[in-house]
Amino acid sequence: MSEQQKASSGAAGRQRPAAGVIYAVAVALVFLPVYEWLANAVPFYADPYDISTAVFNLPGRLLALVGFVLMFYQFVLGIRIPAFERVFKRATNLRRHQTLGKIGFVLILLHGVSMLAYDWALAGRFLFDTYRVIGMVALALLIVAVMAAWQYKALKLSRRVWKPVHMLGYVVFPLGFLHARTLGTELATSWAVNALFSTLFALYCVLVVYRIYTATSAATARR
Ligand code: HEM
Repeated sequence: MSEQQKASSGAAGRQRPAAGVIYAVAVALVFLPVYEWLANAVPFYADPYDISTAVFNLPGRLLALVGFVLMFYQFVLGIRIPAFERVFKRATNLRRHQTLGKIGFVLILLHGVSMLAYDWALAGRFLFDTYRVIGMVALALLIVAVMAAWQYKALKLSRRVWKPVHMLGYVVFPLGFLHARTLGTELATSWAVNALFSTLFALYCVLVVYRIYTATSAATARR
């Protein structure tokens, strides 16, 4: 690998061990809920008693669990965190923010569709209890937040418009957390998934405070 290639790769040579640890943690955080989901899904699929659960509910839960963790990563990748930028360049973080953000969005969108289909299959109609509606509102806001940034050219949105709209993502995450804590089977049956999602939510709160602090300091410095 040439010096130029090394410089343009995600992690500088000196920071490779830190980058390796971050990758390992990032993958483990996705696999933990998948593992716990398997613990519920394998016995069910070994002896499925209900087609709607097999086709809509279980796949929908898996999509949500992975999508939620990916969504948390968007805050880490999108916010400028000096310690993180010493390991990965800003441009690398933004590229990953865009790619993982799109994947997470599609997973959560498919989760919403699967769960609506599940309710329809079971009850013959959509259900509108409080925590489902919170999920629906979160999904609607997520669609707006993601599309504004993803399709800003097609939608002819200037940066002054799409950026604030994209900030709706900050509202979606706590709504998604509340929704998952109250409805989710894996969150209810696995203390590990519950602890992981609660920790991600606590870290999200820390990141929001840090983001507000950096934004207000920058505004004060400009004055
Ligand atoms: C139309 C919109 C949505 C509907 C109808 C919906 C419905 C549901 C339902 C019924 C459950 C419980 C599934 C079960 O355990 O049996 C659930 C769980 C969950 N939802 Fe949603 N949801 C929607 C949107 C969202 C959004 C936008 C997010 C994330 C931001 C999200 C994240 C989750 C998570 C993480 C779980 C927990 C999965 C588990 O523990 O197994 N949902 N959703």
